[in-house]
Amino acid sequence: MKIKGFLKDVGGASRVTKMRKALIENASPVPHPQDPIRELADALHPGKQKFVVTQVREASPTARTFRFEPFEENGVRSHIPPFQSGQYVNFYLTIGTSTVTRAYSISSAPSSVRGEKPFFEITIRRNVSYFVPDYFFKEVKEGSVLTAALPFSQFYYEPLRDAENVVALAGGSGITPFVSMAKEIAAGGLDCDLTILYGSVKHTDIVCGDELAEIAKTCPRVRVVHVMSDDPEWQGEKGFITTDLIRKYSCGIPAASGEQPEDMVDTTYMFCGPWAMYRVVRASMEELGVGPRRFRHDVMQQPSNVKQIPGFPEDQIGKRYQITVVRGVQEDVIGAAADEPVAVALERSAIPVDTHCRGGECGYCRSQLLNGDIFVSPLGDGRRAMDKEMGWFHACSAYPMSDLTIKIPIL
Ligand code: FES
Repeated sequence: MKIKGFLKDVGGASRVTKMRKALIENASPVPHPQDPIRELADALHPGKQKFVVTQVREASPTARTFRFEPFEENGVRSHIPPFQSGQYVNFYLTIGTSTVTRAYSISSAPSSVRGEKPFFEITIRRNVSYFVPDYFFKEVKEGSVLTAALPFSQFYYEPLRDAENVVALAGGSGITPFVSMAKEIAAGGLDCDLTILYGSVKHTDIVCGDELAEIAKTCPRVRVVHVMSDDPEWQGEKGFITTDLIRKYSCGIPAASGEQPEDMVDTTYMFCGPWAMYRVVRASMEELGVGPRRFRHDVMQQPSNVKQIPGFPEDQIGKRYQITVVRGVQEDVIGAAADEPVAVALERSAIPVDTHCRGGECGYCRSQLLNGDIFVSPLGDGRRAMDKEMGWFHACSAYPMSDLTIKIPIL
């Protein structure tokens, strides 16, 4: 009986193979202009496109929100692919003589691409002077056209995986993915309850505060709790986002007394913020018994201060080296500081390098070490074992420890 069925399968498979062969042999070498599968793939993964800035508004005394809409050029209009709250857009910028890529979380709701005037927004904070935020604040205005690709990242709410109750733990500009999430919940596009614990130094540092307050006022599924670390005038929660505070505002965690609140529910914790805050929050998760399945964090960029990177050789701080960069048949020699990632040295020298996460995880900046020594940050080393063996490294999380020769892809 089994053999009969098996022979039937083999016969059927060989007929399909013949049919496939005939179809392939008779197929036109020119792709069909109306290929619905290709159209769908292009719609979901369009690659780099141009978008025009249609609005710039204040999101705090030190933050601005930039709205982008599709841009039409030579009769072809770009389009905004569907995205999820928590995903980011990668910008490809030419600033002076440097070519840089930078990722920003989308702060608008995914439903904003379904309206008559589809758009997406990012919100950038510039509390101190930094290269790319400076560029956005000084140069990017209504009518500016920028090149970008979206969406990227796995940092989003997924109902099949995550609990219906979500506690977001945010610091500084790490609020932006949760602003998008709150807007989408209010628009009815996301079916979960969201409590945001948002840490700032002073109330004037709160990013998107008015928008969040408006959502929390009208949407009972969204609650926002601000926590100020150094603001004597603040009447609400003060200090840092501690274990006790998380416990206080989390109905998914037993109360400090050991009693379980009546409304105890399963909870997913999502974190986006600076490294220093991540360490504290991570310790709280362990203290509260929250396992990795229920704690998720956004991609973490390498800290700008190398002293925060465990194991970084401090005697290298201030040293400078030369990097010979091989791209195809071209070779360039550039200067590099030991306390800056190789990707930054390349960008400073106007050598394009594709970066996304800038935390060592995604692999977009994968390069090959041909000669010399590097320090790879243990905070983000997403390389496979074979890549390490073959001398591949991620330029965003590797630091030169001697003169180097490296090979990078041509962009
Ligand atoms: S940009 Fe993601 S690994 Fe370097």
